[in-house]
Amino acid sequence: MRSRKAPGASRFDQPVPAAGREIRQAPGALPVVGHAVALVRDPFAFLSSLPDHGDLVRIRLGPQTVIMTCDPELTRTMLVNDRIFDKGGPFYDRAREASGDGLVTCPHRLHRRQRRLCQPAFLPDRYPGYTPAMAETARDIAGAWRPGQIIDVNDLMVTMTMRSMVKATFDTQVSPEMTRQIVDDLTVATAGIYRRTISPPVVNRIPTPGNVRYNRAQSRLRKLIDDTVSAHRADLVDHGGILPMLLRAQDPENVGDLAALSDAEVCEQVLTFFLAGAETTANLLAWALYELGRAPDLQERLYTQTASVLGDSLPAHEHLPMLTAADHVVTEALRMYPSAWFLTRTVERDTSLGGVSLPAGTMLGYSAYMIQRRPELYPSPDRFDPDRWEGKKPDRVAYIPFGAGARKCLGDRFAHIQATLSLSTMISLWRFELITDRVPRPAVHATLMPRGLRMRVLARQ
Ligand code: HEM
Repeated sequence: MRSRKAPGASRFDQPVPAAGREIRQAPGALPVVGHAVALVRDPFAFLSSLPDHGDLVRIRLGPQTVIMTCDPELTRTMLVNDRIFDKGGPFYDRAREASGDGLVTCPHRLHRRQRRLCQPAFLPDRYPGYTPAMAETARDIAGAWRPGQIIDVNDLMVTMTMRSMVKATFDTQVSPEMTRQIVDDLTVATAGIYRRTISPPVVNRIPTPGNVRYNRAQSRLRKLIDDTVSAHRADLVDHGGILPMLLRAQDPENVGDLAALSDAEVCEQVLTFFLAGAETTANLLAWALYELGRAPDLQERLYTQTASVLGDSLPAHEHLPMLTAADHVVTEALRMYPSAWFLTRTVERDTSLGGVSLPAGTMLGYSAYMIQRRPELYPSPDRFDPDRWEGKKPDRVAYIPFGAGARKCLGDRFAHIQATLSLSTMISLWRFELITDRVPRPAVHATLMPRGLRMRVLARQ
């Protein structure tokens, strides 16, 4: 691994191709499918093995060659130079077909305007308005469990995060029935988008039951969001949600139609936030609960602090600085189980990285999982140890669950706060117990949820 002295842009090689150093291919590629089987069979083991073969390592996913950046500084260099290492290539093309050209998938040339227009909804002063939706949703869901009940953790965390995102976006403007419909359709759409990203376009056009269900969910979702956007346009009162900020945002660097988001663009961005933000945060909560189930002492310490900070009240924005134990659990869960586990970039023009020539069109990949489990960066990297964050801030090179640079996650703070408040709410009501010693395998999906995780909840009082 390279020296940690000069992270970021200083390591970026000028776009003069250097004398091409050899990039080794990871072992174990099979004919036709390449490394796809290894990646799907055991993504954690496969990704962790890649740094053994170099700072840049070639893998093959079917017909596609991807060069993985295994070195943290090269990864950051790639991420902060988003003009050269842009979002593109077959994975993003398919994701765009499925989810549009919103902030997550758009190429660099469309990005800055969209980002300037969406950013105001995620500035720090907006969060006190969003936190009641987060805590109340967690209480409504966890409050309905019965002592001794065995819960399906993944399903419930997805429902919790989707519901609270819908509430935080539209504030009080959507009915419980509409929220339920949006959550159902989002569940189908999230799974469908991942499937479509990895399968050829022709397969996506066949009217299989899965594709029909997906198309129906997508069009109903878009219609529901469209209708809500139109209703808000007519009444531009700021009720405190994300939507009014998107509708009012102005871009000082543009004039005319481009100075604000059109209704269609607002709809696209709202859908993007739901798709980018709900399952990712649910994934983090599910793994956090699993790890707390494995470590009852840690869970008790978390409960003790949570109970002493909250008493009988629901967690609110002002409690956040005191909920340090929950904050460390969330930070550590994001280190060990970063939801966005495999992401790509395409080289826009001939360049070099780490002394290796990369022609335009080369596809690069990065994985926060791979970086954040490197033993040089994190002693005992496979141990869930929230105490490693005591008095310490995450390092911007070694800790990248939200990416880096201009394309860094817009919802990073939203996700962290939502996870901290949801966890605090659940932990103050219930003790979580594993029902088996079996380590859950990750379900390979857009995120890596702990497959089939079920836990028993026991009353606190
Ligand atoms: C634990 C939860 C989350 C994780 C781990 C996560 C992770 C990420 C990562 C890694 C990226 C960068 C992708 C890349 O480099 O290609 C990203 C981008 C993005 N995320 Fe998140 N995310 C989370 C939650 C959210 C939430 C809650 C929202 C919205 C409310 C959101 C909205 C976005 C958007 C809009 C982008 C694109 C930003 C841009 O390109 O300007 N994410 N996210």
